[in-house]
Amino acid sequence: MNVLLTGGTGYIGSHIAVELLNSGYDVTIADDFSNSSPEVAGYITKISGKSPIVYELDATDNASVDAMFRECLPNAVIHLAGFKAVGESVFAPLKYYRNNLDCTLTLLEAMERHGVWRLIFSSSATVYGNQERLPYTEDMQTRECSNPYGSTKQIIERIITDTSANGWLSSVILRYFNPVGAHKSGLIGESPRNEPNNLMPYITQVAIGKLPKLKVYGNDYPTSDGTGIRDYIHVVDLAKGHVKALEYSLTRSGVEIFNLGTGHGYSVLELIDIYERVNNIKIPFVIAPRRPGDLPESYADATKAEKMLGWKTELTIEDMCRDSYAAARLGTS
Ligand code: UFG
Repeated sequence: MNVLLTGGTGYIGSHIAVELLNSGYDVTIADDFSNSSPEVAGYITKISGKSPIVYELDATDNASVDAMFRECLPNAVIHLAGFKAVGESVFAPLKYYRNNLDCTLTLLEAMERHGVWRLIFSSSATVYGNQERLPYTEDMQTRECSNPYGSTKQIIERIITDTSANGWLSSVILRYFNPVGAHKSGLIGESPRNEPNNLMPYITQVAIGKLPKLKVYGNDYPTSDGTGIRDYIHVVDLAKGHVKALEYSLTRSGVEIFNLGTGHGYSVLELIDIYERVNNIKIPFVIAPRRPGDLPESYADATKAEKMLGWKTELTIEDMCRDSYAAARLGTS
């Protein structure tokens, strides 16, 4: 069975490719390398012992997407391609709406034309917006997002839900919480091209001496120690969740939404503390003002995925901190 993975050489995509290949699927990757590099395909092969087929293409380009579908005949699609920098999306909303919506529509039209009925979509916990109640459950009404990136995820969820209602598409929407960590081999990981926006890659760059100190955005939130709480999930667990979702989509029709998280939240200060302890290193930090748009607290109710997909996380917060640091020291994170 051949799975088309858009954005397959990115941070999350490369880990999904490894898990799919390890589970016996053939993998075709489509990526424009705008935020990744072609060498990643070689690392995927090195880890799994199997090679994905790679197409360098712009997923908004109808003709190239169509030609790829004709050639590789996928049986299912896992769609990750898209821009994902929250801050940039505020300054360049049109870039985000144009690219993220266009590549999804192009892909769905190609799937319909070529009779490909299975779709797994990479969504985000950001679609919940600011809720009164925690943890987040899949049946909660989503709320307005504070940035265009999050809005593109909400709109795409809507497009997929409407398309699935027509009967030909079976889709699974996965709402990621905060993916961190790296593959044990250290060969693939998160390697932001510019200064990282997210906490774990920032801590890691401080740890390896690339950045001098971390800014903790706010210590006056209504949380246990005043800093923001998030549900960090190891990227390998997250990738395994996609394999389970794919298996699920093969025997069902319609649309189903699942949170992919651990169900536990850690504060920024707790994360720093664990990182320092497991890696035996000091992370210098300063308290800075709150970052606009940040929520005090976000964590998943992860029980639906456990019940219906037979999936739950296995790796701990210590594993996440250890693997992020190890990959960075090898130069991939
Ligand atoms: N933080 C800092 N310093 C930093 C970076 C982050 O203190 O340098 C804090 C934030 O204020 C927040 C926590 O660390 O309290 C986590 O921030 P991240 O930027 O790592 O993650 P976010 O929860 O803000 O956002 C992430 C992804 C989004 C996604 C969202 C889903 O970046 O794409 O999770 O909930 F939508």
